[in-house]
Amino acid sequence: MAEPRNRYSTVSLILHWLIAALVVTQVVLIAAHEWTEGPISREFVNIHKSVGLSILVLTLGRLGWRIANPAIPLPDALPRWQKLLARATHVLFYVFLIAMPLVGWAASSAAGREILWFGLFQWPLLPVGGGRETAGALMDLHETAAKLLITLVVLHIIGALKHHFVDRDNVLHRMIPWIPRRP
Ligand code: HEM
Ligand code: HEM
Repeated sequence: MAEPRNRYSTVSLILHWLIAALVVTQVVLIAAHEWTEGPISREFVNIHKSVGLSILVLTLGRLGWRIANPAIPLPDALPRWQKLLARATHVLFYVFLIAMPLVGWAASSAAGREILWFGLFQWPLLPVGGGRETAGALMDLHETAAKLLITLVVLHIIGALKHHFVDRDNVLHRMIPWIPRRP
């Protein structure tokens, strides 16, 4: 019989924080790319691609884990609209963390740019034609998605802090177990 769960599994916690750190890394890498020039600048984009594809694989793994280990319910006291908003944000995170790398991958493929995963092996390209024009359109999509993803992250962090400091419940504690549990 499945035991009732009131905390995220260690796997869920590790994947949450690893992917969150990698998403921040992605933005830092793009900033580093924009602030530099020449081979080093291109290297930042190469690392960005490798990290992005790693996020794709990790998110697919996380989704599989999440389906096998459904989310723990939010506090009963929470209004329905807030539960829906939280869940919608989470679903959209999964959508973006899969769609963004796919679009970036498709753009590199359309442009015929090879992807060397951390310089270790050649990542296969997708069968996407269209050359630079298609790649440009896909990159526009990638950029718009990046802005939406960052908006979601801000919304998500405001939500997490609201739970901790306004509602004073244990929602933040269950994602950061080392902060003290409230009675
Ligand atoms: C890029 C950054 C982040 C991403 C992509 C992200 C993504 C997610 C996702 C997808 C979930 C749902 C977990 C599931 O049920 O599958 C979640 C839960 C959660 N996240 Fe984040 N997160 C990020 C950063 C943060 C930060 C910085 C905080 C803390 C300030 C945080 C606090 C939480 C909390 C407290 C939950 C649990 C909500 C609940 O129990 O329903 N997250 N996050
Ligand atoms: C979740 C994963 C990813 C995130 C969060 C992300 C985020 C970003 C962001 C914020 C930008 C800057 C957009 C702008 O304002 O111009 C960008 C640009 C870019 N991304 Fe990603 N990305 C991800 C995955 C990927 C992947 C997998 C690839 C390719 C395989 C890729 C290729 C690119 C390229 C080529 C650029 C343009 C760099 C330039 O300015 O020349 N991204 N990405």
